[in-house]
Parts: sequence; C-alpha cells; structure tokens
Amino acid sequence: MQTSDAAEPAGEAAASSPYSGFRLGKSLVVAIDGPSGSGKSSVSREVARRLRAAYLDTGAMYRAVTLHCIATGIDLEDRVAVEAAARSIELFISTSPDRESVTISGDDVTAAIREPEVSSAVSAVATTMGARAELIRRQRALIAGAGHRIVAEGRDITTVVAPDAEVRILLTASEEARLRRRGDQLGGTQSEAQLKQQVTERDAKDSTVVDFQQAADGVVTLDSSDLDFEQTVAAVLGIVRTVAH
Ligand code: DC
Repeated sequence: MQTSDAAEPAGEAAASSPYSGFRLGKSLVVAIDGPSGSGKSSVSREVARRLRAAYLDTGAMYRAVTLHCIATGIDLEDRVAVEAAARSIELFISTSPDRESVTISGDDVTAAIREPEVSSAVSAVATTMGARAELIRRQRALIAGAGHRIVAEGRDITTVVAPDAEVRILLTASEEARLRRRGDQLGGTQSEAQLKQQVTERDAKDSTVVDFQQAADGVVTLDSSDLDFEQTVAAVLGIVRTVAH
C-alpha cells in the first residue's frame, strides 16, 4: 500500500511567484535527472514551490527499500528477496515540497534513509531490475495522484518514468562541484574517501542500469557547476517557460 498527500498549497514565496499560475489546469510534469551532488533535490524542491506543484524525490524511495532490507535482515545480494521487499513495503512519501516525510509501516524514516550506511548500500536496490520496475510503477502512480502537476527527480525520470513529461532536464555539475556540495550537505562529517565512495563510485554502479550521464534526445542539459542555488533555480524555471508553453 502506498499513499501520498496531495500537493498542499505552498508558502507565501510560492503564492507571490510569477510562476505559480503557469499552465494551471494543464499537465505540467517537470522531470529532472542527474548524478549525485548535482543539486537536483534542493533545486527541484524549490522549483516545485515556485510552480505550486508537487515534488517527488524518487531516490528517497530506493533509499527506503534499502533501509527496510537492512533493518529486517534481508540480504541485499538476494535479488528475489529485494524485489519482494520492494513490492511489499508499506511506503509513504510526501509529495509536498514543504514537508519532507518518508515512513515505512507508519515509522518515520525521513532522517534514517540519509545515513551513510544506506547511501553505501542503495546501489544494490537500484540495480535490482525487479525492484526498479515496482518503484517505477509507484512513481507513475504518485505523478498521476498529483494531477500531473509535479517536479519529479531521480536518474531515469526523463527516460523511463515520465518520458512524455512536458519538461525534461539533465542537471549536471563537475565532479569537483558535486563532491563539494555533497560534503557541505553532510555537514563536513565525511572524509574525502567516504565522499568519493558515496558520489563517484555510487554513480558508476548506478550507471550500469540507467544512463544519467548523457542527455537523451529532447532532454535539455543544464550544467550547474558555475551557478549558485538561486541561479540554478532560475535557469530551470527559464527552461520550463521556454519548453512548456
Ligand atoms: O538521489 P539519491 O542519492 O537519493 O538516490 C539514491 C539512489 O537511488 C542512488 O544510488 C541512485 C538510485 N536512484 C535510481 O536508480 N533511480 C532513480 N530514479 C532515483 C534514484
């Protein structure tokens, strides 16, 4: 079973955003893919707020299945068991950009899924095709549940989950910028080697099943290496305006 709250009205910033009424009443799916540390999550969340759209962090769903396997003693190398876990997990993920919340069977795991132990193990779930198929199915249901006004981000949203999205963006950044951002995000608690393991090596593993390094046909590439947060949000909104008219 899986539920999600509908996009709640965002805060005042969104109410006054020039984009809050953009394409109201029409489908507006903004699909954003990119590697770890590209700034996808924070940028996508803010873009959703400004558009008064829902927000879906699909990586959080892979992380939740991983945590569930670790916590219940499911062997992450056992593909059949991992797929079964993905199917049976009672997973809730908020699609409000103003409320980050993930629960498993009612237990709040919002913080736990960000622990390094989960980050190091999550590729095992991401590379289990049966688990992917189940999570993709749930992600499509969440997009439909949000009335197709949503910013959805991950690794295969532009190509597999929502290839017919009105807007499709590949958000990239240099390796140096990505390592720095992920390090800042984790509050400087990780060594350089740990960061490399969580960013570069994880991306290399995940790339074996989904291509998020090269933009597919019709996908706009946005390189954020030299952009700050606000500039990246503005660039994404600029692409939304240009592409979805
Ligand atoms: O974005 P993130 O670091 O929270 O993603 C966690 C993992 O999930 C990452 O190893 C890649 C995988 N993932 C995926 O394979 N497909 C997605 N759509 C989203 C994430």
